[in-house]
Amino acid sequence: MPRFDVTIAGELNLDLILYGLPEQLLPERELLAERMMLTLGSSSAIVAHNLAALGSRVGFQSRIGDDPLGQIALERLQRGGVDTSRVHRVTGSTTTGLTVILHHGSWRNILTYMGTISELSWNDLDLEYLGDSRHFHLSSFYLQRALRPRIPELLRWMKSKGLTTSLDTNDDPDDQWETDLQNALRYVDVFLPNRREACKAARTEDLETAIRKLSEIVPLIVVKLGPEGVLAQKGRDRIVVPSRPVQVVDTVGAGDSFDAGFLHQYVRGADLSVCLACGNLAGALSTTRPGGTEAFRDVEHRKRFLESGS
Ligand SMILES: Nc1ncnc2c1ncn2[C@@H]1O[C@H](COP(=O)(O)OP(=O)(O)OP(=O)(O)O)[C@@H](O)[C@H]1O
Ligand SMILES: [Mg+2]
Repeated sequence: MPRFDVTIAGELNLDLILYGLPEQLLPERELLAERMMLTLGSSSAIVAHNLAALGSRVGFQSRIGDDPLGQIALERLQRGGVDTSRVHRVTGSTTTGLTVILHHGSWRNILTYMGTISELSWNDLDLEYLGDSRHFHLSSFYLQRALRPRIPELLRWMKSKGLTTSLDTNDDPDDQWETDLQNALRYVDVFLPNRREACKAARTEDLETAIRKLSEIVPLIVVKLGPEGVLAQKGRDRIVVPSRPVQVVDTVGAGDSFDAGFLHQYVRGADLSVCLACGNLAGALSTTRPGGTEAFRDVEHRKRFLESGS
């Protein structure tokens, strides 16, 4: 039996979220936020943290700087039950990355200082460790600048070792959506984009065209549709599952939490409809607290919420 249910190689950093900002961010003025939260960020780390909170065994490989923000992020992940023995702390001029989110109610600005986020490279990877798992997940394709040229090779290696694989690109900051993504998708069992990302990845503006094109490469496409829930395409079969109604506080990390909920059931061999429902439940849970992991860290709240959805 493999050591882990899911292994993840990717970025580890904090999110600094500012709420209650003035509508207009005027230059050269002192602008006040009503509330702030410093919380675990980064798609890869949120997926890892929330998978562990759901009860999966998770191994995580990453690179952080030798600085307090990296240390806080690392401790959050450790306290969440993720194995962090392969998180390398590097000394030098690059510090741990940071994402600053300016929350404006229904929309947000997302500003990222890349730091060590983009530095994880093939040479950092402990392939035996990552391969000792049932499933390998990769997030933030376009932020993994050092690793990106070898991501197809990494996914191919995982599949050759018998693992299943999943990919959530998240956004491309350059908005180029270069076609090396197609090479990576050839070794992906589950692709987990949102609506915009699915269209961008397939180079079309029409979601149905995107799904048709992506279906030629990936066996299972799971398109996250925010408050509308989720749509899955498996060959010719289509399943649509509505979201779970919820009092939304903040949707930061909902997509990553969906990934965690979905993969938690997927690695157990559950039916697709069960995986999708668990993804929706985890995504909805995430929106009940600020940030991507706070709702999962509150054990009582998490248990009550998950039990109410089962
Ligand atoms: N308002 C909402 N009400 C209920 N569930 C929601 C809501 N918003 C998101 N979700 C749940 O979270 C899932 C993922 O959300 P979304 O579609 O926003 O992903 P995303 O765009 O990848 O998010 P992220 O910004 O975290 O990357 C949805 O499929 C749904 O299950
Ligand atoms: Mg996302």
